[in-house]
Amino acid sequence: METIHKRLFLTGASGLLGRAVYKRFANEGWTVYGTAYSRVVEGLHKLDLTDDTEVKKSVTKFKPSFLIHCAAQRFPDKVDLDPVGAAKINVDSSRHLAHIADFLQVPMLHISTDYVFDGKSPPYAVNAVPSPLNLYGKTKLNGEKATLAVGKGNLVLRVPVLYGPVEYLAESAVTVLLNNLIHRDKPCKISNYERRCPSHVDDIADICLQLAVKRLEDENICGIFHWCGKEIFTKYDMLVQIASVFHLPYDSHVIPDSNPPSATTTTHRPYDTTLDTSRLEQLGIGHHTPFDIGIKSALQPWVR
Ligand SMILES: NC(=O)c1ccc[n+]([C@@H]2O[C@H](COP(=O)([O-])OP(=O)(O)OC[C@H]3O[C@@H](n4cnc5c(N)ncnc54)[C@H](OP(=O)(O)O)[C@@H]3O)[C@@H](O)[C@H]2O)c1
Repeated sequence: METIHKRLFLTGASGLLGRAVYKRFANEGWTVYGTAYSRVVEGLHKLDLTDDTEVKKSVTKFKPSFLIHCAAQRFPDKVDLDPVGAAKINVDSSRHLAHIADFLQVPMLHISTDYVFDGKSPPYAVNAVPSPLNLYGKTKLNGEKATLAVGKGNLVLRVPVLYGPVEYLAESAVTVLLNNLIHRDKPCKISNYERRCPSHVDDIADICLQLAVKRLEDENICGIFHWCGKEIFTKYDMLVQIASVFHLPYDSHVIPDSNPPSATTTTHRPYDTTLDTSRLEQLGIGHHTPFDIGIKSALQPWVR
């Protein structure tokens, strides 16, 4: 018979990370209620997270033992274009879900971002003081605060730029770089300035599973956790790695740009958001897929 401890309510199950989380928990025998909004495929449930009544109805009817909130507006430029809409999904829906989780007495894991930091003093420990540079980072930080304020036993997992199997190349800020390699007739400049530690979504999904299991065993497993990949790259470094994995030429049409972004750029991004992952590692949690291996499997279907 199904045990009450293996019922996951997962928002954003149609997204880049949510798809991996869904698969990881389902493979482990969990019953997953995955929600989607515009990309409702078989097995997922349509749910507008800004509709408080419907959200409460869906969660309480499903009776989860754990809740993971992956859904968000996570494109910083889109947050700038629609700050009110972004706050509804990134902050208000987190607060509302946390209240429902609290009412049902189940823990909630809120997925957050390295963009809560300004990138000036890495590596960032879990207790480092956040100082987001852009509105996206601010909304995600407010979502974290709401989640932790409502349920003291809740969890926040901050992650860096993600990649993995994509539905379209621009779905990930990493996989989109393949476009610059494919279109050899278009010379381009790629940033060789900001530093990132990309993570494969399967690594994060595994961490979510380990955290859920440990939290259900021990209520002291709560608060803020950090994970990021072990390799530090600029965008240009990532492009060179992709080129090397697929034997694609780049040096005649891709120019590394080592300058900071111009001051007129509207959406500011942090310089180096490397996260200190020791809290998870002390719990025996964490896995890093080497970038060349992860990116090869993610992009193989897109390279002829
Ligand atoms: N991707 C990254 O590089 C990255 C980096 C750091 C942190 N994160 C964080 O990781 C989490 C997952 O990100 P992701 O990359 O998987 O995002 P994503 O691919 O953009 O997916 C976003 C998800 O949110 C859902 N959603 C958006 N608005 C909704 C609404 N009003 N009601 C219900 N669902 C709604 C989307 O549903 P539909 O698509 O079906 O509309 C989708 O499932 C987010 O919290 C993000 O902030 C991501």
